[in-house]
This record gives sequence, structure tokens and C-alpha cells, in this order.
Amino acid sequence: MSDGGFTATHDVLVIGGGGAGLRAAIALADADPVLDVAVMSKVYPMRSHTVSAEGGAAGVIAEGDTVEEHIYDTISGSDWLGDQDAIEMFVDEAPRELLRLEHWGCPWSRQPDGHVAVRAFGGMKKMRTWFAADKTGFHMLHALYQTSLKHDDVTRYDEWFVTRLLVDDGRVHGVVAVELMTGRIRAVAAKAVVLATGGCGKVFPFTTNANINTGDGMALAYRAGAPLKDMEFVQYHPTGLPFTGILITEAARAEGGWLLNKDGYRYLQDYDLGTPSPTPVLRSMELGPRDRLSQAFVHEVEKGRTLDSPYGPIVHLDLRHLGAKVIDAKLPFVRELCQKYERIDPVTELVPVRPVVHYMMGGVHTDLDGATPVAGLYAAGETACVSINGANRLGSNSLPECLVFGARAGRAAAEYAATAGPAPAAVAAQAADEERRLEHDLLGRAGTERVSAIRTEMQSTMEESAGIYRTGPSLAKGADTLAELQQRMARVGVADRSRSFNTELVAALELANLLDVAECILRSGLQRQESRGAHQRTDFPARDDETFLTHLLVHREPDGSSRVERLPVTITRWKPGERVYGR
Ligand code: FUM
Repeated sequence: MSDGGFTATHDVLVIGGGGAGLRAAIALADADPVLDVAVMSKVYPMRSHTVSAEGGAAGVIAEGDTVEEHIYDTISGSDWLGDQDAIEMFVDEAPRELLRLEHWGCPWSRQPDGHVAVRAFGGMKKMRTWFAADKTGFHMLHALYQTSLKHDDVTRYDEWFVTRLLVDDGRVHGVVAVELMTGRIRAVAAKAVVLATGGCGKVFPFTTNANINTGDGMALAYRAGAPLKDMEFVQYHPTGLPFTGILITEAARAEGGWLLNKDGYRYLQDYDLGTPSPTPVLRSMELGPRDRLSQAFVHEVEKGRTLDSPYGPIVHLDLRHLGAKVIDAKLPFVRELCQKYERIDPVTELVPVRPVVHYMMGGVHTDLDGATPVAGLYAAGETACVSINGANRLGSNSLPECLVFGARAGRAAAEYAATAGPAPAAVAAQAADEERRLEHDLLGRAGTERVSAIRTEMQSTMEESAGIYRTGPSLAKGADTLAELQQRMARVGVADRSRSFNTELVAALELANLLDVAECILRSGLQRQESRGAHQRTDFPARDDETFLTHLLVHREPDGSSRVERLPVTITRWKPGERVYGR
């Protein structure tokens, strides 16, 4: 790219090859056969994080369930911070997307009579979670991937890492990326770009997220002028394996698993989440929402009712009463994970678990079609915040979110690209600048700081300052430490000078993204002086609808500082009320 020229030009470039990215690419290819579409991903698409989703995807299909109930569960689950127009549209479109996926080959588990089987999930009043045993993400991604392959005119850039969005006069015109196999720095022009790079769980030390979940799309958009919305809402999943953070799906509790403290007691009965029952009761006890279950864990720690482990306090998930037959039929992956990573068999032994960071409710601010405030730039999936999840996402809403909003973003990007003009000359100069930055500021510099040290410090800072419970002082202290880490980041160099698959370079680029995203989490967290959903401030323990029934958008200013703006929550029919579970 040394002449500043473009390696290729496309109408629409999708960044990310997971659920939302592939669904967007298929929607683009379907929208207009002559549209030139490309997908660029830092990993091979089947290695995207969607592949690790386990429990299922929510969509109203069962007899007796209604769209109204799914909407209400999602709104109350979001602690009334979800936008109700977005939620209504999402709930309406989700079943059609799930059915379409079946036509593309996704093997949904079935009832004996052949109907699609659904299971219970946390915070949902009705059984509406479609599943493919407990490997739902693998099967969904596979169906999307093989469908995308039918569109052989979709160009793929596998293992390309995007480092910058090219934006001029408020419009996106393409990207600069490192081709990881060769180390070459390339500029690719596009009239529209769809970001679908997943979440940023690696901001924290214990997470169910893959190593690749480093907030790349969020950071790219933020630096390009699109604000990040509702970043203070970080979801802890109540049941991760203690050392690895590997997810033990909520489906294990939906099938009847119990959470026990060190005394073998089903402690959730003490937290206004219902009374114990031998069989799962919807929206009750172990099937309460994730924020409440994770908060209950912290109180058990405070009461001294958890067990110690080398990786912090734990409780137990008890599946023994389900028996081998149910576990092998419905939860085979849970059994495999426990055997491989903990050397225990859940058929006969208790599973040690702790809350682990799982999902970001916040992300790039978009409208209902995935459009960001930067013209031509779209976002979908966990990268984006539409918002349907508000302050707390219900389990199994995120896979259909990828499908519904991936498809919508794809269609909208196709429409935009049809009338957008070519990249102006100024953009080639930006691309050349980015090449210089990568070559001289990172690859060409010895550096006095190491990526691993800064990353470890960032992760522990985030856990201490913005964990399940936060305070103003803890968030402020975290923000000070992050500011220091940003300064140290400027002194990072890449010792490995090799070109091919330079993982040290990738780690440095990812860390820069993580730090920017982490700053936004703390910035929003400080501003929101109330407790709502996953954002619990012990110095402001009550929900405050009068002041904070509003989204917070963090903008990056030209000098690198940030500014927070408020945006009203869209309320259509459901007035804010109390969240009641277990009754
Ligand atoms: O527990 C789970 O299977 C997670 C599902 C989700 O986050 O939607």
C-alpha cells in the first residue's frame, strides 16, 4: 500500500464473520445480486465467538406463548432501559429468522411429535428458547457459513485485522487492515461498512468470551466519531468455570440444575427469587435474571457461605439429580466441558462455578437499521447497541439479535451503497498515515512497555472498579489507573519483527482497543448515579427513573478526551414498573 492506493474496492464491507456479520453478508447478497460485498474477519469465520454459544435462541413459537409476553419479559429484564420500539420489532422478527435458519440447515432440537422444541431460560415467563442440544451457536454459525458460501461472489478476507476506519466529512469510505498471513498493510475502499465484531469481554480477567473479543468494532467506531451507548452495563453470567471462565450454559439450570452454597443450600430462596421446587419454575430461583443471580452470589460471599478456590470464591451447580440420560441428551457439551476442563463428571459430581463477564449490553449507538451517526457505517450484534437489552440482557436474546439486526443492517447498508459515491482523495492520505503509524509507531519501535503487563493491570483494575457492585470512588480510581495505562500504552513496542502472523502486533492493537472501550465503561459508570440492572452502585442503591431513565452516549472528542450525552429511552406502551421475579 506504500503508494497510498487501495488494494480493492467494494460496495459494502462487513467486518466480522460471526452470527451478525454472516447474516448481514447474506442479506446484502440477497438484496442486490450486482452489489459487490466482502467480509473481513481477524479469524476464519467458523472460529468467531458465535460458535461457542450454547443454550439457545429466543423466539415465540410454542402454543400459549405470545409476542406481548416476550416483549414484556425483555423490557422488564432490561430494567426498563431497553428501547421499546426496538424490542417490539425484534420480538416480532425473531421467529421468522429462526425458522429461516432451519431452512438453511440449522438442526433445531425437536419434540417427539416433530415440532421445534423450546426450553426455559432465565427471566422468561414462557418456554421460548430454541436450541440445538447445548451447541446452538456452533449449529447456527455453521448454517450461516454454509449459506454464505452459496454466494460465491462474496469476497472473503479471512485473517485480516482492521486497524482504522477511513472517514471523511462524516462518511465512511473503507478501512485499513493488516493481512495477518503476510503482514502487509492494506487499504480497502467501501461505500458502506458493517461492524459485527462481537463484544469486549477481554476487558475483564474472568470471562466466557474468547480471546478474540477485544472490542475492536466498538473502538474503531468510537475513534471514527460514532458514540458508544450504555457501556456501563456489563453482564456477568452466574455460571462460569472458575479458572477458564468457560460458560456452563443457563440451559443446565433450565433443565433442572440447582445452585448450592457451601452448606449444600439453594441460597437463591433467600433473595426474593422464589421458593425451591424440584423442577424449574419459570422466572424463579435458578431461572431468575442474570443480574440478580450474580448479585446474590456476591451476598453469599459476604455472608461467608461460598467455598474458596485458587481462583476466588465459588458455589456449586448440582446436576446430579438430572441423571446421565438427560445430561447426555440435553447437555452433552456441559458434560464434555466439565470432564475436559475440571476433570469432574456432572452426572456424579458437583460443578464449581462463579459469575464471569459474559456480555456487553452497550455498544456502538445505532438506530433500528443498524445505522450509526457516521454515514455509511452500520453495526449489528454485540458490537452494537440498538438497544433491546437495556440494563440487563435476558439469556437467549442475543443469538436472535444477531440475526434480526444483522439482516436489517445488511439491507440498510445495501440501500445506502446504491447511491453513495466513490472515496475522495483525502481518504488515500489517511490510509497512508495509518500505514506510517503501524510501521513506525508499533513495528519499528523497541518500546519500553510490554503488552501483557498493561493488559493484566487493565483487567484487574476493571474487575476491582467496575465489577458486579461499583461505587463512585471505585470507578474514579479505575479511571485514573486507566489514564496511566493509556500513557504506558503509548510506549509499547513490538519486539517481534516478523511479518507473518505477528501475534505480538495483534495483541498490541487489541490492547489499544480494549483500553479505549474500558475507559468508556468507567466514564458511563461514573455518570450513572443510580442502580439499574447490571449497574449496581452501592453509593446509589436505588433506581432513579426521574434522572436516569436515559441512555448514556460516550463521544470521543478530537483531543482524545470523552464527552457523555444523554438520549431518552423510547417508551411505547409499557410504563416503567417494578421488576418482580419468583412470584
Ligand atoms: O447460558 C447460555 O447458554 C448463554 C446464553 C446467552 O447468553 O444468550
